[in-house]
Amino acid sequence: MCYAIPGKIVELQGKIAIIDYFGEKRKAINDFIEARIGEYVYAQGGLVVAKVPKKKAEEILNFWKNRFFELKSLDKRMSEVKVKGSPKFLYLIEKTTKSELTKKEMIEIIKTNRENDLKLLFETANNIRQRFHGNSCCVHGIIEFSNYCENNCFYCGIRKDSKIKRYRMSIKEIVETAKEAVKKYGFKSLVLQSGEDFWYTEEKLLRIVKETSKLGILLFLSIGERSEKTYEKLYNAGARGVLLRFETSNEKIFKKLRPGKSLKKRISLIKNLRNMGYIIATGFLIGLPGESEKDIVNNILLTKKLKPEMYSFGPMIPAKNTPLENHKQVDKNLVLKTIALSRLIDKKAKILVTTALETLDKNAKKQGLLSGANSLMINVTPLKYRRLYGIYPNRAGSDKEIDENIKETVDLLYSLGRAPTDLGL
Ligand code: 5AD
Ligand code: SF4
Repeated sequence: MCYAIPGKIVELQGKIAIIDYFGEKRKAINDFIEARIGEYVYAQGGLVVAKVPKKKAEEILNFWKNRFFELKSLDKRMSEVKVKGSPKFLYLIEKTTKSELTKKEMIEIIKTNRENDLKLLFETANNIRQRFHGNSCCVHGIIEFSNYCENNCFYCGIRKDSKIKRYRMSIKEIVETAKEAVKKYGFKSLVLQSGEDFWYTEEKLLRIVKETSKLGILLFLSIGERSEKTYEKLYNAGARGVLLRFETSNEKIFKKLRPGKSLKKRISLIKNLRNMGYIIATGFLIGLPGESEKDIVNNILLTKKLKPEMYSFGPMIPAKNTPLENHKQVDKNLVLKTIALSRLIDKKAKILVTTALETLDKNAKKQGLLSGANSLMINVTPLKYRRLYGIYPNRAGSDKEIDENIKETVDLLYSLGRAPTDLGL
């Protein structure tokens, strides 16, 4: 099983490697393992993360050779815009290709509910995705290593006050799980996620990062707010990505739902982490109480301003025994519209279909991928722990073996003409 296609370095321009994939040239930063011209490598998130022995690379490329072009042409066919939409809406959509939309126009798009206009929106976003990103879809693995959290976010099922069964994976367990994800299942990028759990001291985190980044992967941390000093040390130990959502750009809502926390501080941390060199994945929740369409647009615009490599946003799913357990769940179309509008506004970033969206119904993952998204995550947490990471109920894939989740995802991607790859910048 393979989640990234090896490419051959054909040129080096300082720290930038030019990598060839079946004649397509992509750029990736080559300061992590310093590969040389002629060598085969894996690139993830624009970074060369591992060398691949020539024989193994040729075997994999042989497997991909025909499939690569077949999938590409299927994706191209599937991403043509076929629907017309109403003239007024068509005008809005056409405007996105020529100039910037005003905020008012963006809100209008988020409010759209006419069937043909929605189709036009999704098809256009999918078409932009195809033109700017090709058919590659990155598939990261995620390990949820602790459900302890010191915070009390109103929406979250693992908040401090939730009376749930808690777990922490030992350093050894985390490293073993990561090894299995890389060696057995072929992941080239992993996210290590937990609540804000200071039982994992800086020293423990450093050990985890050193051991896991050695596996030749792009390692993302999703551990909440830690000091910049700690994050800097973790970067030097081999972590290269941070997944940290700002949750909402509305200061009032933030203050109410995240007691004791500051939106300004969180945003400033995200910016500083980017300046430190981290690849950023960030975003927000959709459907928080008090949120309007204008807030959603502001959330998209703030995400763009933070210049992330990847947008990560999803519906808030009411969780039992939290202050929001009786709050109304958002409509799936609102999430799809948010994906599509994000794609119209930011053509270059990756957009993730989150597990929360997948949880809404069994078609949601496919629809997300057909509305402008081009990234997925597969949960590789050991099952006995995965069930306990209950930030919200009935999470998609939380009861399935990893093999089964992978097969389902790969089958879906192939049926859409997508290749589970990450082809660099
Ligand atoms: N529904 C959906 N997502 C949630 N998160 C927390 N609680 C919920 C919920 N009830 C998200 C937050 C956090 C991420 C790890 O999980 O956005 O950043
Ligand atoms: Fe903790 Fe994150 Fe849940 Fe907030 S959303 S309670 S910080 S795990």
